[in-house]
Amino acid sequence: MKENDLRDEIEGLQLVDKVNVHERSVYESEEDWDIYEEYEENGRPIAPEYYDWREIYPELQILLDNFDDILQEAEQVSHWKEWPENHYREGGNQDWKVFPFLHCFPANDTSKLTWVPFTCELCPKTTTLLKQIPALRTALFSRLGPNTSLSTHTGWEDLANFVLRVHLGLKVPGHEKCGLWVEGKVEYHKTRHINVFDDSKRHKAFNETDEERLVLIIDLERPADIPPGTAKGGHTEELDLFISNAFC
Ligand SMILES: [Fe+2]
Repeated sequence: MKENDLRDEIEGLQLVDKVNVHERSVYESEEDWDIYEEYEENGRPIAPEYYDWREIYPELQILLDNFDDILQEAEQVSHWKEWPENHYREGGNQDWKVFPFLHCFPANDTSKLTWVPFTCELCPKTTTLLKQIPALRTALFSRLGPNTSLSTHTGWEDLANFVLRVHLGLKVPGHEKCGLWVEGKVEYHKTRHINVFDDSKRHKAFNETDEERLVLIIDLERPADIPPGTAKGGHTEELDLFISNAFC
């Protein structure tokens, strides 16, 4: 082997090693890592856990510009519904409630976009703002009770693989006590702050304070240059029943 070839090979191996150390550190165990190695072996790139909203969804500025209207409508909601799927609760307080405006299953078929008339009428300013975001697929207010943490889960493949999930912090108590965990990496919620993450990966939300945490959740079409999500398994019958019965 020529000297230059040998040097290139050594540098290449060092680079691979650095990448592996970096990637491996975000997963919990060797078993978890194996799942992601499979994607690499199949030539599939791994999408990041989090994104900067200013880079991929600058249109979300409209939500910050009208933050006070959204917060005011969220605070007056009285028709909160318990999330219907119990496997999201890992014990302790089980206080997770939602107020949905829009859903779309599967999220790559915009003919399935369905607005919920009852909730939209109760929050007309928020609805008007949401309808100005073209890539929107899901929208709901989400209220996580005091000292509540959701179980680790992945989104449904018929939604999460086609979108990225956005949280706008409306009422976030404490400092670095409420946030998101995605594949071992944590980002905190803050009031008037937007988090964007890939909910096709294993994730959970937590509230470690004695007060409720309120966010606006929206899903936006996944940009074409970001790999599709890796979730397996569609949404459940419990969710279909919830959607069809909760706000009729
Ligand atoms: Fe989730």
